Amino acid sequence: MKRIPTPSIFLSFLIIFCGIWHTYADQSDSTASLRELAGKCDLYIGAAVTPERMQRDSQYRETLAREFNLITAENVMKFHILQPQRGKFNFAPADQLVEFAREQNMVQRGHSLIWHHMGTPDWVTKGDWTREELIEVMREHIHTVVRHFKGKVKYWDVVNEAIDPEKSHGFHESVWYRIIGADYIDLAFQFAHEADPDVLLCYNDFGGERLGKKSDAIFELAKGMQKRGIPIHGVGLQMHIRTHGYPEPEDLKANIARLGELGLQTQITELDVRLQEPVTQEKIERQAERYQEILQVCLESPTCTAYILWGFTDKSSWIPGFFKGYNDALIFNREYQPKPAYFSIQRTLMNHLQKENVRSH
Ligand code: GLA
Repeated sequence: MKRIPTPSIFLSFLIIFCGIWHTYADQSDSTASLRELAGKCDLYIGAAVTPERMQRDSQYRETLAREFNLITAENVMKFHILQPQRGKFNFAPADQLVEFAREQNMVQRGHSLIWHHMGTPDWVTKGDWTREELIEVMREHIHTVVRHFKGKVKYWDVVNEAIDPEKSHGFHESVWYRIIGADYIDLAFQFAHEADPDVLLCYNDFGGERLGKKSDAIFELAKGMQKRGIPIHGVGLQMHIRTHGYPEPEDLKANIARLGELGLQTQITELDVRLQEPVTQEKIERQAERYQEILQVCLESPTCTAYILWGFTDKSSWIPGFFKGYNDALIFNREYQPKPAYFSIQRTLMNHLQKENVRSH
């Protein structure tokens, strides 16, 4: 019988071992949660959540804790819920989220202190205020809320959706703008900073993702605030998008880069990719590419620190109620099964890690 020379035996074992190891490594990688992968990429991956569903749906809680390292309150940290009547604060629902984040070792994002009529109670929007009185209302709200969550919330969206480039003065005509004037934005950031000097303060808006009128206005606002010595640390780009067109990845990247030049972080704060009904496999695949494109830009941009979805399961999303004829905007289906978008995010994070490993060797 022919004897196999010793080095060949060794080589065969080595090949078999490498094969097994490679298969194992592949499997273990492909089952890594988004949370594990994003953590290694130094990125917050988050979702907007509601305490009602959290309470009654264990799959919701489990998926959330397994896949994400950050949560945002979908509604319960907005003014109308936290202070439905003057001086009567209702922290219970928001506290539930914060407690969940603490237990699960996740970061809590605060959203949002000052918004326009949506998210602001009637007692504020319909009040007959002088400028000084309304400033006082704002101060009381921001001080009380930010102090309540001090040390528990890492980022606050201080002002949401203040800019309207279609108006000659450039601002959304909210009660805040009408009665206080454009400097309500500066004041809101100052009040938040007074209440918690360590919390990171963001301006959040939609439609400012690509280069253009709106993102120019956001950029100028942030730059002006910095010149005036107002503490601002980041800009939130909401990113409620469709499968095609806006925003082009190159534009998004350039926009994040210029905000970065001001020393500001950018966070993708409310990403969802809505599909026009009837939902087809082709649309679901295209949706996966969109989630991937945006993540890729964020990973390639050193100042993009968070990639946050507006929900995570198609069981619970604002889309069908708001955009007639659209649905299924998220990365898990109604049974909490991952959709192609989930796997495209997972693959993109894995590829990024591999590239980074190669670079650091
Ligand atoms: C805006 C707000 C969010 C949320 C979404 C839709 O983007 O910033 O808080 O209300 O609309 O639900």
